[in-house]
Amino acid sequence: MSQQTPTDAPARPRVLSGIQPTSDSFHFGNYLGATRQWVDLQETHQPFFFIANMHALEPGPEPKVLRERTLRSAAQLIAMGIDPERSAIFVQSQIPEHAELTWVLECLTGFGEARRMTQFKDKSAKEGEGAASVGLFTYPILQAADILLYRPAYVPVGEDQRQHLELTRDLAQRFNHRYKKTFRLPEPYILKETAKILDLQNPAIKMSKSNSSPGGIITMLDDPKVSAKKIRSAVTDSGSEIRFDPEEKPGVSNLLTIYSALSGRSVEDLVASYDGQGYGALKGDLADVVVEFVTPFRDRTLDLLDDRAELQRVLRAGAETASEVASATLADVYDRVGFVAG
Ligand code: TYM
Repeated sequence: MSQQTPTDAPARPRVLSGIQPTSDSFHFGNYLGATRQWVDLQETHQPFFFIANMHALEPGPEPKVLRERTLRSAAQLIAMGIDPERSAIFVQSQIPEHAELTWVLECLTGFGEARRMTQFKDKSAKEGEGAASVGLFTYPILQAADILLYRPAYVPVGEDQRQHLELTRDLAQRFNHRYKKTFRLPEPYILKETAKILDLQNPAIKMSKSNSSPGGIITMLDDPKVSAKKIRSAVTDSGSEIRFDPEEKPGVSNLLTIYSALSGRSVEDLVASYDGQGYGALKGDLADVVVEFVTPFRDRTLDLLDDRAELQRVLRAGAETASEVASATLADVYDRVGFVAG
């Protein structure tokens, strides 16, 4: 990948995003809402994608589990089509500038502003403020640092990250205004159709690692037969007509969204082709599409996991590329806030 110093205008706009290694496998929400766009954007942008292991520390996983999931995440990103020759794939904790910039941004963030961030607000509303860690409180500021260090034009994420992107832009603007224009204001890149993939058992909530029941979440590395069964047992709505109507028919609409995204067929085309048929036909066909999609993905991931040394080499190379950009940005920041050069 060609290297640019951050003060040069990059030949192609940068794109950056991250994913937490909080489970053994990504799920369909992660893939359709975010990482699939990463794969597409690497064609036209200068891509930086990282595994947010510092964010994942917040609930305190077992060290060996966190380490394993970090490598599994790297393998999955490569298996889904992130090309290490074109994209910098790296691990957040290997770039110390993420933590260093966080401190500077924390000094620009209001206490009330951080308190209003959804994750902290929800947890403290449910369990009391004392139940939340300081890490959860400052989580969005670390995320802002992750982003701003690379001065990306776009950040491809799902809808649930929009608030974090707004804080990131606010902090960038505040820094630029208080000191000197340093940060680019990043735009969220959120695809409307797949911005929020819903839980298959409870379409009132999003598919999520933390809240979905096992039947509500399709994980990418599950046994394909299990995933097919989950699709066939997805909750559908009253009536029997197949129609795209997220308000009245969230369950069926979610299945149509997944089907369309995986098959490349438009929702209208799918609706027309199931005219007069019941939910069972739609679910049966979608189950086949899912099996066809996850089977090679799973095989590729497991193959990649057989060569840990190669995965670590890819991550080291990604960290080198990331480090050049991150260190140059942090040097600008330190200079502008008045830190004496070392
Ligand atoms: P994480 O690890 O929870 O999720 C990774 C990506 O998957 C998207 N996503 C979904 N999209 C649609 N429907 C769903 N049901 C669904 N569930 C998850 C998320 O929106 C996300 O894009 N805080 C981030 C990680 C992070 C990050 C960053 C992202 C850390 N630093 C900097 C971008 C830039 C998170 O927890 O994502």
